[in-house]
Amino acid sequence: MKTIFSGIQPSGTLTIGNYLGAMKHFVGLQEDNNCYFCIVNQHAITVPQDKEALKKQTRSLAALYLATGIDPEKSTLFIQSEVPGHAQLAWMLQCVSYIGELERMTQFKDKSAGKEGVSAGLLTYPPLMAADILLYNTDIVPVGEDQKQHLELTRNLAERFNNKYNDIFTVPEVRIPKVGARIMSLTEPTKKMSKSAENQKSFISMLDDEKTITKKIKSAVTDSEGIVRYDKENKPGVSNLLSIYSLFSDMSIEELEAKYEGKGYGDFKGDLAEVVVAALKPIQDRYNELIGSDELDRILDEGAEKANRHARKTLSKAERAMGLERKRR
Ligand code: TYM
Repeated sequence: MKTIFSGIQPSGTLTIGNYLGAMKHFVGLQEDNNCYFCIVNQHAITVPQDKEALKKQTRSLAALYLATGIDPEKSTLFIQSEVPGHAQLAWMLQCVSYIGELERMTQFKDKSAGKEGVSAGLLTYPPLMAADILLYNTDIVPVGEDQKQHLELTRNLAERFNNKYNDIFTVPEVRIPKVGARIMSLTEPTKKMSKSAENQKSFISMLDDEKTITKKIKSAVTDSEGIVRYDKENKPGVSNLLSIYSLFSDMSIEELEAKYEGKGYGDFKGDLAEVVVAALKPIQDRYNELIGSDELDRILDEGAEKANRHARKTLSKAERAMGLERKRR
């Protein structure tokens, strides 16, 4: 049995990019593995957040995890800030991180470029992410493509710590899906789809209604060729829509190209909208049942308790290794 860890930021409503790149794969993993799924609200505050919105989005993300099929009997679902070990280990890992390597992270560069008042937390975000993963002796981290560099840093930090102190941490493997690892924006298909994007038309939220989904897909950027074919380089918009269609319908890209031969983008987009709406409907129905329920709080309380039990063990080993303990516990 392997240990799996993954996290999602409650920094907006989840998009179909988050779902197809990460969440969709979590459900299958929980059958034969020991899974931890985390709502990483401490990562979210590395950029300014509205307090009430953050609270709401945290709860909403918990309900979405469950609605997509995360089973609290099989997996541990919890909120990062309810397990203090994350911030504690993050501090220790910051002390073995180099400023230079943190400044080289592309996500830091993207999020800080041209901005004033960039928080120190944005720079030290990756050691916090490493702490999330390393606290649970994680073997595998399922994520989308954009997290690859952070995972490489996590592995480096684990190895550095293990070499310098005792062998405390399991060095985790990253698992990135072959298709869907990078779902692109609907309005600027050379950029990734992001839940924190300002342009609402650039993403489909997991909670968008039928009308909104249809509108967004109909207005998605394509090209003037008018042929439904996959060519990421020259036809990024159509290729992205084909990937989304394929992932939600389980039809291959080739089958879809054949289905739409001789037809225009109008038919293709109309059908795609129907496929996406149908795939999200059962998730949204379950979400609506869960969001107001006490069940959600009970699950999160139990998740935090279980996560804390495991986290405390690793934390105290790491503290002992670094000489942060006065007496042997
Ligand atoms: P976040 O919240 O940005 O995204 C959550 C997950 O969704 C994936 N993802 C995508 N996949 C495909 N196409 C897209 N357009 C797309 N956008 C996002 C992400 O790769 C991710 O798997 N730093 C992480 C959160 C985190 C974490 C962790 C992840 C904190 N600690 C520990 C794994 C393990 C993040 O910002 O993800």
